[in-house]
Amino acid sequence: MALVPMKQILEEAKKKGYGVGAYNVNNMEQIQAIMAAAQETQSPVIIQASRGALKYSNFTYLGYLMKAAVIENPTIPVAMHLDHGNSLDSAKKAIDLGFSSVMIDGSLKEDGKTPSDYEYNVNVTRSVVEYAHKYGVTVEAEIGRLGGIEDGVGSGSAHITDPQEALQFVKDTGVDALAIAIGTSHGAYKFKGAKVLAFDVLQEVRKLIDIPIVLHGASSVPKELIDAVNKYGGKMPGAEGVPMEHLQKAIKLGVQKINVDTDGRLAMTATIRKVFTESPEKFDPRDYLGPARTALQGLIASKMKAFGTAGHASDYAPLTLEDMKKVYNK
Ligand code: G3H
Ligand code: 13P
Ligand code: ZN
Repeated sequence: MALVPMKQILEEAKKKGYGVGAYNVNNMEQIQAIMAAAQETQSPVIIQASRGALKYSNFTYLGYLMKAAVIENPTIPVAMHLDHGNSLDSAKKAIDLGFSSVMIDGSLKEDGKTPSDYEYNVNVTRSVVEYAHKYGVTVEAEIGRLGGIEDGVGSGSAHITDPQEALQFVKDTGVDALAIAIGTSHGAYKFKGAKVLAFDVLQEVRKLIDIPIVLHGASSVPKELIDAVNKYGGKMPGAEGVPMEHLQKAIKLGVQKINVDTDGRLAMTATIRKVFTESPEKFDPRDYLGPARTALQGLIASKMKAFGTAGHASDYAPLTLEDMKKVYNK
């Protein structure tokens, strides 16, 4: 079994200068596609579930499907991660399910919508760090605020990270990885005007802090996927994401974890729409979920290559959560 703490996956990536995708999962086909891509490219991988995903799947189902990914791929380092936890309670539930990593997003209040202040963020983050580290579990937190709203999550207003505040936040909380806001946003509509990211802020943060850095809202929203969705009856005019060159630059400047959800949704939706349009007689879910899974595998494998993750699966001996307990309790 290679369920590993996310801290190890990210610190190894930091040492060697590559990025690791954290791919959102909601069901079996997505998990299988991501793991097949990790096998194909020999990549370490982070599979992450949002609160919405866990609610949709009734926790236990998704937890066990994610564990199956670990069991079926013993040579691939896999982190099971909670995406955008909103409270200590959400982190506890994920740790109970066997996750090796949790995010606490204290940039927003518990409703997942209202912007919080620094003190709120520090307090809730510190409470999760204290709890999670007792179990050897990695903690990611966020300082600054992303734009965009997904599934009712997000304030809709962005706030670029202040590097000095980020430094203080890391000192005040003891987090393992830090998500920063440099102009990306969640979803398929990321830029109103020019696609500008605050690379200067990223550089400044990297100079000041030494822990792994996370980029949320990092889907590229590939034009060919939007074209396919629209060609087969979808309606997504003007959707745009972060160009791959921007992500590669961010990795070079010091980002290790790259969050991708939207692109996976697009790959599956484009494929399912194509099957329905071209073969309206089909009604077996395997006839559309199977091709969607294959398309998603191709998309994720190409990201693993582009982020530089490919080929690093057997670089290191996986640590266990027991090992991490000793590290944290030193
Ligand atoms: O950051 C948000 C992720 O894309 C998860 O989205 O809450 O709709 O599952 P969700
Ligand atoms: P995208 O919407 O760009 O895929 O971002 C996903 C994300 O940040 C999940 O936490
Ligand atoms: Zn996110």
